[in-house]
Amino acid sequence: MGDRIKLRVILGSTRQGRLGDKLAKWIHDLAKERGDLDVELLDLRDYPLPFLGEEARSASEPADKLIAAWATKVSEADGFIIATAEYNHGYPAVLKNALDSIKNEWSNKPVAFVSWGGVSGGARAVEQLRQVVVELQMVPIRNAVHIPFVWNLMDDDGSLKPEALNVHQEGAKNLLDQLVWWAKILKTARV
Ligand SMILES: Cc1cc2nc3c(=O)[nH]c(=O)nc-3n(C[C@H](O)[C@H](O)[C@H](O)COP(=O)(O)O)c2cc1C
Repeated sequence: MGDRIKLRVILGSTRQGRLGDKLAKWIHDLAKERGDLDVELLDLRDYPLPFLGEEARSASEPADKLIAAWATKVSEADGFIIATAEYNHGYPAVLKNALDSIKNEWSNKPVAFVSWGGVSGGARAVEQLRQVVVELQMVPIRNAVHIPFVWNLMDDDGSLKPEALNVHQEGAKNLLDQLVWWAKILKTARV
């Protein structure tokens, strides 16, 4: 287990009523099914970071403690999948804040993107994110999964329709292959 590539799936949408949790879980589960990875889902709801430079919202959880917990999680990872919604042709503010709140922990690690939205499937958000992660010295990989008209994938009770993501399955597998290839190379190079 110790030698396995540590892949972390970061869920970047935290709003009430979000749909993205189902999609992040889908890619998380696919990665886990491979059997060769140590995979964990990091839901930004569980890391309520203060906005950069601000005081934490609760005195019981000081800003430095929250940021340190986030830094530890990112630091231990060998690669990431950022799972993101598209809001007004961009990506969620909480996600930018999570990226900005730490720095060196991201360096020299690969990142792939799974996105969702309307007609563009979140592709516009991902194109912006690619520029941002380069500044953090990450390696954004080419293959991505963009899921359009995400609301059509849900049943009336809010659950993901069976088979809804079948069309993206092959793309997701290719994404994982490419991400793991880079993760292995960069892990060796970081030592
Ligand atoms: C503030 C806001 C802005 C949005 N802007 C876009 C947009 O620019 N392009 C798009 O494709 N979808 C847009 N949408 C629709 C989202 O893609 C859709 O609500 C999706 O479910 C959001 O992901 P989430 O449910 O995980 O938050 C927007 C939704 C919100 C809440």
